Amino acid sequence: MENKLKEFTREKLAKYNGKEGQPVYIAYDGKVYDVSESKLWKTGAHMMRHESGDDLTADIGGAPHDTEVLGKFPQVGILKPEKDPMDEHIPDLLLAVFRKIPMLRRHPHPMTVHFPIAFMMLFPVLNILYLVTGKPSFDISSFHVLVAGLVFTPVALITGPYNWWINYAGKWSKIIAVKMLGSLILITLILVIFMWKIVVPDIMLQPSGARIFYIILSLTLVPIVTVLGWFGAKMTFPH
Ligand code: HEM
Ligand code: HEM
Repeated sequence: MENKLKEFTREKLAKYNGKEGQPVYIAYDGKVYDVSESKLWKTGAHMMRHESGDDLTADIGGAPHDTEVLGKFPQVGILKPEKDPMDEHIPDLLLAVFRKIPMLRRHPHPMTVHFPIAFMMLFPVLNILYLVTGKPSFDISSFHVLVAGLVFTPVALITGPYNWWINYAGKWSKIIAVKMLGSLILITLILVIFMWKIVVPDIMLQPSGARIFYIILSLTLVPIVTVLGWFGAKMTFPH
């Protein structure tokens, strides 16, 4: 039934203050009541201190009576909940989705970043194991892990800016600058290494110059994902 009631914003409610022939409306606990018929509200103010056309939820605590007095008057609408100032930038539709599925608000990035971090740390380790043991299975696994990193890094690259926009209102900071640059370097490096491996599948068996460069490139992934994670966690857990 409440759905059919008129929805008032604070601004709209303010007009119904009993002045200039307007009815007298007051809001309590999200409900808007018409108290025009009451002698005690007919001037638009109650007991010379409570102005109508406003949300009086917080004021009734000081009254000598209960909230039951409101029951004598018809409810004419509902008061639209005020948007949290932190959520100003988020469309109402998305906020409604968050109310239904709260985890979509904060989780997407923290949940997905572990994959590129783990894969890109494992990749050089497998390369070195191949170098040390000569077992081809390490080389094959390293390629699979590289492909997994190539698939999951873009996920982190999408969820990162998403979480930044939702939870930090897209506010620029040094940490974000580091993360953006780090992410760009990360995805470029992964692509370069991937292409190299595709073009020269036995790069790990090539004369030492090219091979050493390939291994050095793969090792640089470790500090990059560490920096990305470190600075990310600094945002989530600032203290
Ligand atoms: C310090 C603050 C307040 C004082 C001293 C006060 C006092 C009173 C008194 C003496 C009455 C008549 C006796 C009664 O019905 O119990 C009354 C009625 C009423 N009050 Fe208040 N009140 C206060 C705050 C509020 C607030 C904040 C609201 C609205 C949220 C409110 C809504 C009403 C209503 C709807 C009635 C019934 C009016 C009628 O039957 O015509 N009052 N108040
Ligand atoms: C443009 C790219 C990126 C942006 C804008 C970005 C932004 C963010 C933001 C805003 C947070 C804080 C999340 C929150 O408190 O809700 C965060 C956390 C984090 N980010 Fe990123 N990020 C990006 C890329 C990445 C990448 C590529 C990785 C890893 C490979 C990564 C790893 C992390 C980690 C580990 C956290 C901490 C997660 C946790 O709370 O457990 N980020 N990032």
